[in-house]
Formats: sequence, structure tokens, C-alpha cells
Amino acid sequence: MSLVDRWLCGAEVALRTLSGGVRAERATPSPESPQRTEAPASTAPALSAEERRLSGALMRVNHVGEVCAQALYQAQALATADPDLRAQMDQAAREEIDHLAWTAQRLAELGDRPSLLNPLWFGGAFLIGLAAGRLGDRVSLGFVVETERQVEHHLAGHLDRLPAGDTASRAIVAQMQADEAAHALAAQRAGGVELPAPVRAAMRLAAKVMTGTAHYV
Ligand SMILES: [Fe+2]
Ligand SMILES: [Fe+2]
Repeated sequence: MSLVDRWLCGAEVALRTLSGGVRAERATPSPESPQRTEAPASTAPALSAEERRLSGALMRVNHVGEVCAQALYQAQALATADPDLRAQMDQAAREEIDHLAWTAQRLAELGDRPSLLNPLWFGGAFLIGLAAGRLGDRVSLGFVVETERQVEHHLAGHLDRLPAGDTASRAIVAQMQADEAAHALAAQRAGGVELPAPVRAAMRLAAKVMTGTAHYV
């Protein structure tokens, strides 16, 4: 593909991500079996209004994270000249599409909505991804490693906070956590460098602003 083609693909990803027009390749993880689609809501205990609100807020935050993942991987695939690395980024992006579709579906089931600021999150993450890509493949991969590790850590926190009765959300978050850990490992094995501590701290701060906002907006 030419560079123009790749930019057009990037624009298409942006539109699909922001319009909610994505379909998961893998079945939605369910409480009975992480890779089956049997309707979890029918067997799960009913949630109180308060629990439903909390689950909605946490799943909105996770959905924003997946919007950003689409932007980051797309930008980094555009930035690299290495076809193998581009293929790896594209593969991870496909798994992130599953996450995007699962969290969107769960948000709808909870009667909640995605973040109103998603275009802003996507644009910001895309620029950060391009900037990381400009610094070379090993830094770009290092950025993926650190991002995925932070997301994995953040999802572990959500497994502590999600209502115990919300087994449907918990099954989705648990599968996402396992996938993010695999993405981090793959990027590390592909040669990702360890980012300096101040950069990692800045990334944590940026993520805190994003998740804190997306909880409500
Ligand atoms: Fe993800
Ligand atoms: Fe990931």
C-alpha cells in the first residue's frame, strides 16, 4: 500500500471507531466461558441502579482506552517503514477492535453511553502515536510496551472495583487484561526499549486525566 492508501485507511479507522461501526472477530467473553456468546445477562444477578451506574462509568473509561488504542496502533503502523512491524501493529489493532466492540456492547447493555469526548481522545492519541513512531521503531515499540502494561494494571484495578454481580463486564475486562499483557510481551520481544522513568510518569499522568474525565463525560 502507498502512503496515501495507508492514510486513507487511517481515516477509515477513525470514522469506524468513532461511529461505533465495528464488529468483533472473536465472540464476546462471557462469565460461563471466556470465549462463548451465551447470553450472560440472563443468568447474572440483577444489578442495583447504583451498581449499574458504576459499571457504566468504568466500562465507558475502558471504551475510551480502546478508542485510543485504535488511534495509537494506526498512527504507529503509519509511522514505521518496517513491514513486519506494521503487520504486528495491525494484528494488535485487530484484537483491540474486539475490545472496542465488546466494551461498546456492554455499555449499551448497561443503558449507558460512550464518552462524548471520543473524537478528542482519538485525535490526541493519534498525534502521540505519530510522535512515538517518529522516534524510531524501538522507541515506538517501547511506547507500546509501557502503554499496554499501564492498561493491564488499570484493568486489574477495574476488576477490584466492578460490582461482584456484574459478571458480564468482569468477563470482558479479564479477557482484555490477558490480551493487553500479550501485546506488551510481543512488543518487548520485537525489540521495544524501556522508556525513561519521567516519560513513564508523564504517560501515567496523561492516562489519569483521561480516565478521570471519561468516568463522567
Ligand atoms: Fe485493548
Ligand atoms: Fe492492547
